[in-house]
Amino acid sequence: MRLDKFLAEAGIGTRKTIRAYIQNGMVKVNGQVIVKPAVEIEEKTDIIMYLDKVVKYAGKVYYMFNKPQGCITARRDESQKTVFDYFKNENMNGVFHVGRLDKDTEGLLLLTNDGEFEHGLMCPNKHVDKKYYFCALGSLEDSDINKLKNGVLIGQGKILTKPAKIKVEKIGTCQDFQQYIGNEKISEKDFKVYKQPMVSGYLTIKEGRKHQVKRMLKAVGCFVFYLKRVSIGNVFLDEALKKGEYRFLTDSELQMLSGL
Ligand code: URA
Repeated sequence: MRLDKFLAEAGIGTRKTIRAYIQNGMVKVNGQVIVKPAVEIEEKTDIIMYLDKVVKYAGKVYYMFNKPQGCITARRDESQKTVFDYFKNENMNGVFHVGRLDKDTEGLLLLTNDGEFEHGLMCPNKHVDKKYYFCALGSLEDSDINKLKNGVLIGQGKILTKPAKIKVEKIGTCQDFQQYIGNEKISEKDFKVYKQPMVSGYLTIKEGRKHQVKRMLKAVGCFVFYLKRVSIGNVFLDEALKKGEYRFLTDSELQMLSGL
């Protein structure tokens, strides 16, 4: 493993600051000052010291997080709460979020310090399923469902979305969706004003374009007011996690996601 990567995973700093520490002679490998960040080390046997203190091998971490609404998927922000604010008791140096959820979207978000793992899930030609539960104003006719399955035009270049899966769960009116009143997207007043059908269901997509689910549903005349990611590949959000809680991925979840 590269020396700078090792130190980043150990939580010493960001890759950028670590490069500076190494170049400034603050890091020793087996007692010798090393000034090249790219030097390969053997993380299990070499003794790495930063400012003359031994750095323990931190290893890789994989978190499953139940993202609540109202925080942004970013490391830090001047004014808004971020997903990292929920990890105050952890050493999050070198850890990043795998993909993004909108501020008003909740549910399954993974965080890790393993770049290969992230690439395996996010690389567009890997086609990993991401399943979302949605509630929307509007209705979905058979023709709309076929459009969503086969691809709709979204985005500036009006590019067709890749084939998706859709399962309608409930068709109703505002009375059937009372539990969502007062959420960020739709107020009690809106509910009274929108005397129109509402629909909920699951949309599974393989891409990760900006606001993709909302824009796909908008393309067939539906306005999403609640969105939650429920799974990535075969790994489902652990419903025992309350909003804002996290845990490590289990070995089998990790295997399922690494083998995609
Ligand atoms: N699609 C969206 O529209 N928003 C998200 O947060 C994720 C997928």
